Amino acid sequence: MVNGQLSSVRVGAQRERPGIRAAGIRDVARRAGVSVATVSNVFNRPEIVAPDTRRRVEEAVEELGYVRNESARQLRAGHSRTIGLVVPDSSNPFFTDVARGVEDTISAAGALLIVCNSDNDPQKERRYITLLAEQQVQGALTVPVRGARSAAPLLRERHVPVVILDKTDRSGGVCSVAVNDVAGGRLAMSHLLDRGHRRVGFVGTGHDVHQAADREAGARWAVEEAGHDPDKLLTVPTSQLTVAGGTQAAAELLAIPARKRPTAVACVNDLIAIGLLHELLRRGVRVPDDIAIVGYDDIGFAQAATVPLTSVRQPRHQLGARAAQLLLDEATDDHHRHESVVFEPELIARESSGAGTVATAATNGSKTPARGRSAGTRA
Ligand code: RIB
Repeated sequence: MVNGQLSSVRVGAQRERPGIRAAGIRDVARRAGVSVATVSNVFNRPEIVAPDTRRRVEEAVEELGYVRNESARQLRAGHSRTIGLVVPDSSNPFFTDVARGVEDTISAAGALLIVCNSDNDPQKERRYITLLAEQQVQGALTVPVRGARSAAPLLRERHVPVVILDKTDRSGGVCSVAVNDVAGGRLAMSHLLDRGHRRVGFVGTGHDVHQAADREAGARWAVEEAGHDPDKLLTVPTSQLTVAGGTQAAAELLAIPARKRPTAVACVNDLIAIGLLHELLRRGVRVPDDIAIVGYDDIGFAQAATVPLTSVRQPRHQLGARAAQLLLDEATDDHHRHESVVFEPELIARESSGAGTVATAATNGSKTPARGRSAGTRA
């Protein structure tokens, strides 16, 4: 017993013992000398049951080895107390931070979170969405993978509320919560251009991932704004949006003759930036003096990197919490109206781009370039 709540409610299929009928809720009620409704309250609303009565019910549950049949409860209630979240890469700290924001919000409402990893695979995403719908979750949040609007109707047709995370959906048919990734890519590249870099690159292309495409578009916009040909922006593809992808990108960059090599790069995310940073340092390249680096997400490891990483901060916990709140609103409010929430990113300048730690918000035009130790003009 923890704080008046059952410390763990065992749910699922009852233990089968040959020749012995599994105890049911009526057996527990009879053993405890209470009604079936009281037993149900001990599980669902323990705060309204007298402590002594709760204790008798719990003792009966333990003595009889009673296990709630969650699927039966879901059938009666028409939905479960679980929320599903489908993310493209559960090993990326960005998504674990977002999931934490979701969980902190839904647990306050008495629901539990199931996190599913789609591995950036649309088929796997659909399989998880179908599973969540079949499990009659109270709602689902999904980070879409390539054309994944297809996933949302699956839930809709089963009247399961769904919120799109990390991609803006303005159709009005579903709530969405995301960051303005075009503004984020522009922030990253403008920061480097404002610090005098002229040979710049963008690392982490080659993925059919909308977040990456938007950031690259923002970087190209910044290059054009600075009066340069955006088609001259060097792009370095990676096989994955991971640390290994960044390590691979270092080899690509170092294969370019030094006189033509970028003096600064913006990366699709922090994992790639951290992999790139460590491989460049390992090969004796100085960061930022030889190559300045900017990441994206501002995950916890960014500031802890060997050379603290300049990054475009996404409000990860807020993204998850806001999306979860919209989902709970849709699940409980008949007058719910769908919203498309877009957060603006913020650049956190650190040593990897030659700046001290300075924050710069995305603005609608005027840019206040981060001033750091060496703001001199580079080749
Ligand atoms: O999944 C690739 C990237 O998109 C993540 O690193 C995070 O930035 C997300 O928005």
